[in-house]
Amino acid sequence: MEKIYIADAGKHEGQEATVRGWLYNKRSSGKLWFLLVRDGTGVIQSVVSKADVPEDAWKACEDATQETSLSVTGKISPDKRAPGGVELQVKSVQLHQVAQDYPITPKDHGTPFLMDNRHLWLRSSRQAAILKVRHEIIRAVRDFFDSNGFTLVDAPIFTPAACEGTTTLFETQYFDEKAYLTQSGQLYMEAAAMALGKVYCFGPTFRAEKSKTRRHLTEFWMVEPEVAFADLDDDMRLAEDFLSAIVRRVLENKKEELKILERDTAPLEKITPPFPRISYDDAVKMLKDKGIAFEYGTDLGGTDETVISEAFEKPVMVHRYPAEVKAFYMKQDPRDPSKALCMDVLAPEGIGEIIGGGQREDDYDTLVAKIRKHNLPPEAFDWYLDLRKYGTVPHSGFGLGIERTVGWICGLPHVRETIPFPRMLYRLKP
Ligand code: 4AD
Ligand code: MG
Repeated sequence: MEKIYIADAGKHEGQEATVRGWLYNKRSSGKLWFLLVRDGTGVIQSVVSKADVPEDAWKACEDATQETSLSVTGKISPDKRAPGGVELQVKSVQLHQVAQDYPITPKDHGTPFLMDNRHLWLRSSRQAAILKVRHEIIRAVRDFFDSNGFTLVDAPIFTPAACEGTTTLFETQYFDEKAYLTQSGQLYMEAAAMALGKVYCFGPTFRAEKSKTRRHLTEFWMVEPEVAFADLDDDMRLAEDFLSAIVRRVLENKKEELKILERDTAPLEKITPPFPRISYDDAVKMLKDKGIAFEYGTDLGGTDETVISEAFEKPVMVHRYPAEVKAFYMKQDPRDPSKALCMDVLAPEGIGEIIGGGQREDDYDTLVAKIRKHNLPPEAFDWYLDLRKYGTVPHSGFGLGIERTVGWICGLPHVRETIPFPRMLYRLKP
């Protein structure tokens, strides 16, 4: 008997086939059993008629519990009401293992319980849809850079120094010395951009975030392009083209999943270049006009970002933050040295920052002074400073957080559901 995936069942209409999967749900009406079987590619209704099947198949239907693994064989027949347009008219049923007391039942469970059972929760249609959208986003990220002349360069995970501030470093023993889990591949991408022109890395990054918020994970995935000879304006153009391409791809290829997630796609349809650009000073003025207490010169907080992003239909690019509150590697604005040539992209619908980046300091002496000013150990950055000694050029890049992007596109309020196995302040299991 031909073994098929449920997603392909439509192509086998009128034929007999075997579907292998797990029991999602079942109901009976005396002489019939309706088994909802899922196999990761879809769900198919399998109809078992007592009159048409051997006794053992009927007993199997009675014994099968939620998440029991099984194979069902029968004829694929058209059914207008069924998802996928077909159902299976069952001839035989084989149980692989009868699941005992599956902990996640159709009733409502609290989030902590579901998080403890994350390894099982992934089987729900919503969680599976999120994982599929995440996969599409990652494919779109790679396709965008691969088809625009970028080379993928992998950055190390063990690093000798901080990139994004010393307060969120995870320290680990590295034989006789200390190492840190990477916060960002940026410094390595700067080296790679001087070798290859346009590069990007994509991998896990780590931040010892001590706060419990809806946007912070301790382990998250970041994609980081870096481009030689690009300035801040080039960087912003790259960011808006890139984000627009990602959203378009998900809208085209993941319609079913967005439907399962009940995502209103109208706001996503509007994500096309150009995106609005406002300076930090403009942003502060917006907050003041809305009556929000904000101290000029500090970084924007989560709520400030929410308020600003809610004022725009598209992602808004906030540029030129005070240099004081930003990382050591940022280039100062020659027209106002108190500002950094940086930008954050705030996603709409109140989401907030999903991209951070900007133009890098390319002058050797200025960079040495910045490293000292940030109390960073200059010896750890000798290799990085070499890039300013041997053919330095203006260059820019940014980092996009995959989980916040998945959250935005799927319409999820919290990042914990955007990654298969989240790592947060109080969560290292499963
Ligand atoms: O703004 P960040 O810290 O920028 C950098 O790391 C730069 N070195 C990137 C670069 O220019 N190459 O982080 C970039 C993005 C944020 O906008 C956010 O989307 C995500 O990474 N991010 C987090 N996502 C989840 N949990 C956290 N704790 C995150 N911290 C940053
Ligand atoms: Mg940032």
